[in-house]
Parts: sequence; C-alpha cells; structure tokens
Amino acid sequence: MKIGILGSGQVATTIGHKLIQLGHQVMLGSRTQNNEKAAAWVKAAGSAASQGTFADAARFGELLWNCTSGLHSLDALREAREDNLRGKTLIDVSNPLDFSQGFPPFLSVCNTTSLAEQLQAALPETHVVKALNTVTCSVMVDPARLGPKHDIFVSGNNEDAKALVVMILKEWFGWSSVIDLGDIKSARGTEAYLLLWTRLYGHLKSGEFNIQLVRREL
Ligand SMILES: NC(=O)c1ccc[n+]([C@@H]2O[C@H](COP(=O)([O-])OP(=O)(O)OC[C@H]3O[C@@H](n4cnc5c(N)ncnc54)[C@H](OP(=O)(O)O)[C@@H]3O)[C@@H](O)[C@H]2O)c1
Repeated sequence: MKIGILGSGQVATTIGHKLIQLGHQVMLGSRTQNNEKAAAWVKAAGSAASQGTFADAARFGELLWNCTSGLHSLDALREAREDNLRGKTLIDVSNPLDFSQGFPPFLSVCNTTSLAEQLQAALPETHVVKALNTVTCSVMVDPARLGPKHDIFVSGNNEDAKALVVMILKEWFGWSSVIDLGDIKSARGTEAYLLLWTRLYGHLKSGEFNIQLVRREL
C-alpha cells in the first residue's frame, strides 16, 4: 500500500520504518521538500521510502498518518491541502502538548474539545481516527516489548476507517487489545491522559510503559 506520513520526527520515522519492513511504500511529508531528517530516513530506509512536502505525502498516500507537532497539526494539514486528504483515513497520533512553560507540558486544547476533533472539523471529508497517542513510538510499533497484553485505544466517527485502523494495530503492529472508545469526541480522554503520562514519564525516567486495564469480571 502507498502510505503518506505527515511528519519527519521520531514518530514519523519509527512508524515509517515499521511500514517499510511490512512491505509498504512510504513517503514522509514536511514543510519543505528536502527536510534533512526525512532525507536521512530515506537514505537508511531504502527504495520504498521517499520524501516530499506535506501536500506531496498526502497526495501519495492511500492511507495517511498525522505525526506532526500537536501545536502545528492544523497548519500542517492545511498545507497538505484538503483535496489530497478527501475520502482517506488519517491516523492521528499527535498530542496537543505545549512545552512553552517547561516540563511537564500543558494541553493547548482539552476538556470540551480535543485536537482530533479540531482536525476532523477542519477536514470533514477525511476519516480521522485517533490512535497510539498514549504510548511512546517504540511501543506503538512493537507492543510486545512491554509484554503480551496491554491496552491501546481508538476514537473516530467512521466505522469502516476505525475497522481499518484496528486491523493495522492488531495484524501489522501486534496489539492484542484494542479498545474502541467511540466517536472522535472520545479522543478528549486519550489526549488528556497525557497529563498523567508526562508525570509518569518524569517519575519513571522512561517512556516505555503503558496502561493495562484491570477490572472485576462480570
Ligand atoms: N515522541 C513520541 O514517542 C510520541 C508518542 C505519542 C505521541 N506523540 C505525538 O506525535 C507527534 C510527533 O511527535 P515527534 O516527537 O515525532 O515530532 P515533533 O517534534 O512533535 O513534530 C515534528 C513535526 O512537526 C512539524 N512541525 C513543527 N512545527 C511546525 C509548523 N510550525 N507548521 C507545520 N508543521 C510543523 C515538523 O515539520 P518539518 O518536518 O517541516 O520539520 C515535523 O514534521 C506529536 O504530536 C507528539 O505529541 C509522540
């Protein structure tokens, strides 16, 4: 499959490597055509890898990922252009983290809305599915590194797009437990979890942890 990843940071390159290993063609998108980090990734990833602008990657991909800084995701998607995103599934891993006052960050969007809802509102004909934003990127693509069973979440309005993302999480990335929280508004919960995630990170000095739900059997 042709996959476009908006982003050139560690999440984009980690997911990109995994998708290339799985046999897909991947283009990373940036503000500029010749982004240095994307160029280094293309060199390391081989002939199935390519780079371009946000618009190039969005046009290229049959399936799209938003791996841009949460503070700038709306700008990045605007640059990607609505006509390149129309009708496609966009897996949104971004978090609205604002580090302008240091660590831990605060959320730039929260409570009565979420970044995922803002992206969906800006792109009404794109199927935004929030996923994987609650774990560090090494765990996103290799959940087994933390053990056999722990939980990941999806939120989105389009059931077919969500089913595609659940398949990708389970069959491509190896997640055994995917919890469908409901429509895109439910991303308010997973984005706000970053308030706890960042504090756990500060406490544990590592991002390699995740949620494992424990509940009373009914
Ligand atoms: N790091 C993790 O393990 C992790 C885990 C869960 C979720 N996330 C979320 O995943 C996203 C990506 O994280 P990351 O650490 O890989 O990268 P990042 O540093 O948060 O974001 C890098 C990307 O944001 C773009 N960007 C920055 N400023 C921009 C602007 N003014 N306008 C348009 N685009 C702009 C950059 O564009 P250029 O390519 O042009 O430089 C680059 O592609 C973030 O939202 C983060 O919160 C990260």
